[in-house]
Amino acid sequence: MTRRPLIVGNWKMHGTRAMLSEARAIDRAAQRNMKVEVALAPPYTLIHPIHREAEQIAVGAQDCHHAEGGAFTGDISAAMVADAGATFVILGHSERRLGHGESDALVRAKAEAALAAGLKIILCCGESAETRAAGKAAAFIKRQLKASLPPPEAMPADVGERLTIAYEPIWAIGTGTPATTEDIAEMHGLIRELMVELFGEEQGREVRILYGGSVKPENAAAIFAVPEVSGALVGGASLTADSLMGIALAASEPFDP
Ligand code: PGA
Repeated sequence: MTRRPLIVGNWKMHGTRAMLSEARAIDRAAQRNMKVEVALAPPYTLIHPIHREAEQIAVGAQDCHHAEGGAFTGDISAAMVADAGATFVILGHSERRLGHGESDALVRAKAEAALAAGLKIILCCGESAETRAAGKAAAFIKRQLKASLPPPEAMPADVGERLTIAYEPIWAIGTGTPATTEDIAEMHGLIRELMVELFGEEQGREVRILYGGSVKPENAAAIFAVPEVSGALVGGASLTADSLMGIALAASEPFDP
């Protein structure tokens, strides 16, 4: 990993104000480990409270609407999450694609809206167990990313800074069993190739590629030792400071098998 590793906690639909103490503990620990960049994506309701207190960690949203505003009951725009203190947004998570029927085209529209609002984006991709069993994972990921990302000419010049990809195989999320390091190496390698193809040698190599799916303190070091893994998007293990910072620690130390 050439840039500082990035560890992002995705709290999903977990967290009331009672969890603010955990966010504080994560922020304090992040101040003590400057080798790693730590960020949290709490539910919308906690973005501003965490942003107000955080001194080190970045705060982001887990989704946003693709329109600037209007008659969209229950939705939140990119400008609104930015106003609440978010500097990034996770887009295209499989729980949104599957649970809310989000298409590649919708994810792309959301990405355009988020970038226009000045946010960084973490764009998720990931194949199902069936797609992998059919030997089609690589082709699926390439197609999903190309269709979900705005075209290169619509991306900002500093795309390497504004865009992060998260590879999250659906079958590894929340199961306790991450993808094998061989699978992660293959998929991250092809995502890197795609980034270079789309955004050129310089910016394409800057784009960070996170792995997500059952990352825990116990397996993190082996995953971070895989080439082209720039960090992790962490669900379940991000809910306590102890486990999230255990993962951050693994990212800041050289892996010694
Ligand atoms: P998990 O979730 O770490 O609980 O597997 C990862 C994610 O869905 O981002």
